[in-house]
Amino acid sequence: MSLALSLSVNGEACVTEVEPRTHLADFVRDGLLLTGTHLGCEHGVCGACTLMVDGRPVRSCLTLAAGCAGADVRTIEGFEGDSLMAALRRAFTRHHALQCGYCTPGMLVTAYDIVRRFPDASETRIRAELAGNLCRCTGYVGIVAAIVEVAASGLIAAVQPSLRTAVQPLLAISTTVALVDGQARAWTASDLSSATSLSRELALSMSADSAWALLRDIRTVVTCVPGAALTRLAGDEAEGSLTVSVGPMRAKFGGRARITYDDAARTGSLTGGADDKGTRSAAAGAMMFRVVADSAERCAVHAEIRYRLTGPLAQAGRPAIVADVVDRMLERFNANLVATAGGQIADVRPIGGLRMLAGLLMQAVRRLARSSKGA
Ligand code: FES
Ligand code: FES
Repeated sequence: MSLALSLSVNGEACVTEVEPRTHLADFVRDGLLLTGTHLGCEHGVCGACTLMVDGRPVRSCLTLAAGCAGADVRTIEGFEGDSLMAALRRAFTRHHALQCGYCTPGMLVTAYDIVRRFPDASETRIRAELAGNLCRCTGYVGIVAAIVEVAASGLIAAVQPSLRTAVQPLLAISTTVALVDGQARAWTASDLSSATSLSRELALSMSADSAWALLRDIRTVVTCVPGAALTRLAGDEAEGSLTVSVGPMRAKFGGRARITYDDAARTGSLTGGADDKGTRSAAAGAMMFRVVADSAERCAVHAEIRYRLTGPLAQAGRPAIVADVVDRMLERFNANLVATAGGQIADVRPIGGLRMLAGLLMQAVRRLARSSKGA
């Protein structure tokens, strides 16, 4: 069975058919002969297949082509005439940042994303962001030096002056406290520089008062987070677990978090740390959130998340993969909040892994059913 697929690739409309199991890397390489996207591990670890979907880097070996309907896909071939990518290519050449070149398309796409999101990034930060792209030839000294040089050149401010504003956090997380091994401690400068940040906005079909009342109830919030379970709640401290798949790995994190609320400002924060014995990985982080009324019946939750992953999961949990998991969790969290507000039962199944792929497949099948009805 083939599925109808309509999307944009490197700025050109593409209307075609794909098999449900075709991943995006095979689609662009075999279907469109855009062979600049390389395949290495084919399970989300090496980063060779990295390309952009809707402006964000993704692993095309883990992304189903059928799930990209309506998306704007940009492969390495689609950066011709892009001054930032041209600067990165020149810097890679100058710093001998490639040898066989197999990893280079994925490296360049990731470097492009790093420079755009973190124009002031330190070398430490660049190394952390680059952790998802493996090079078996050169070592990383030249690659990192090339990215540092382009970031420091100020080019990003010149070519996209609005971007620097766009990446500024909505809420400053200046006093992030992580619970590490059960002990609270402030993040060090090195923690902060190597942490990954995410900003998200969740649109809710309910009043700001209703949303705040739901978010104010920790048990309700935990019930709405897929894969989460609360084991103890004492004051503003909670203990529990979160089961999630990141790339090819599945983990059950157990840990503690502190949750605070400011009712007058409708803002709150959650800081905590947790570890997963199975993968011997640990996570520490903080989220600050704010509820803003859009109208009497609609509101938005703005969230700033900053986290650090350590251990084997950090290898599979590239920022883009984690961002994808977070987006899926927020999507389900949104649906669960609305369901809970309507007295219905939340869907608490964990997010990620095969479930993520199955979700994409089901979306494609539903689209196909809709399009054949309309034909
Ligand atoms: S081929 Fe996709 S991450 Fe390795
Ligand atoms: S240059 Fe050969 S794998 Fe990176």
